[in-house]
Amino acid sequence: MTHVVAIVNQKGGVGKTTTTINLGAQLAKDGYKVLIIDSDPQGNATSGLGLSGNTFEKTTYNLLVSKTPIDKVIQETYIPNLHIIPANPNLAGAEIDLSTMISREFKLKESLIASTHDFILIDCPPALGLLSINALTAADSVLIPVQAEYYALEGLSQLLNIIQIVKQNINKKLEILGVVITMYDKRTSLSEQVLSEIKNHFGDKVFETIIPRNIRLAEAPSFGKAIYDHDKWSKGARAYKQLAKEVIDRVSTK
Ligand SMILES: Nc1ncnc2c1ncn2[C@@H]1O[C@H](COP(=O)(O)OP(=O)(O)O)[C@@H](O)[C@H]1O
Ligand SMILES: [Mg+2]
Repeated sequence: MTHVVAIVNQKGGVGKTTTTINLGAQLAKDGYKVLIIDSDPQGNATSGLGLSGNTFEKTTYNLLVSKTPIDKVIQETYIPNLHIIPANPNLAGAEIDLSTMISREFKLKESLIASTHDFILIDCPPALGLLSINALTAADSVLIPVQAEYYALEGLSQLLNIIQIVKQNINKKLEILGVVITMYDKRTSLSEQVLSEIKNHFGDKVFETIIPRNIRLAEAPSFGKAIYDHDKWSKGARAYKQLAKEVIDRVSTK
């Protein structure tokens, strides 16, 4: 059965795309068939895997707006078992094009019915518009990356509110898979403070794995590579490997 995970946070720069790519790559390495859906007009998940969104005729935009069948938009990546539906800046127009459509929140869900993947990871844009709502409607669970910084909790109550509204009204099975703390710097007491604050707030929803601030993770996308193929011994690679384990555990005990 397919498990669909929406990777959501309306803040930019918190590690959504880094988590999508590296979690997806690790799950694929672990033998699962994985599909990443790039649902951000910036197309960072696409370029981070060495592809250029502008070279594809069919992208996430077509899946959502023009009902292009899923097998016509899926592309292979350089990693076996890891596929992607690419995005480019024209996806920004989907927010507008969808807004006047009937059952506009369900477009992604409807298009995923024919999917044969074990995991689908949706990399959301930094906004809680129709792209993110479509992701939450199509998802079985939500993974929320939170950056270990002073304003980390800001905006999270709004996000939880939206998740609750989607769950109550259109997607009853939606659950929070977990909150993952990213860019943690153990040298700063601020990181530690933020960590304990997030744990107070989310309890055991917080993944035990903490993603450290690691330059290798920031470099990898410029080579179009997941962290394992850039520096598999880095702290970042080890952290995402561990996170993948936790994700598999949490999904399989459901
Ligand atoms: N753990 C990390 N350590 C260092 N840099 C990181 C880490 N995670 C992400 N980055 C970098 O921070 C920036 C924002 O991350 P990104 O994953 O693109 O966030 P989002 O998708 O939420 O906007 C990117 O330049 C990325 O390479
Ligand atoms: Mg991103």
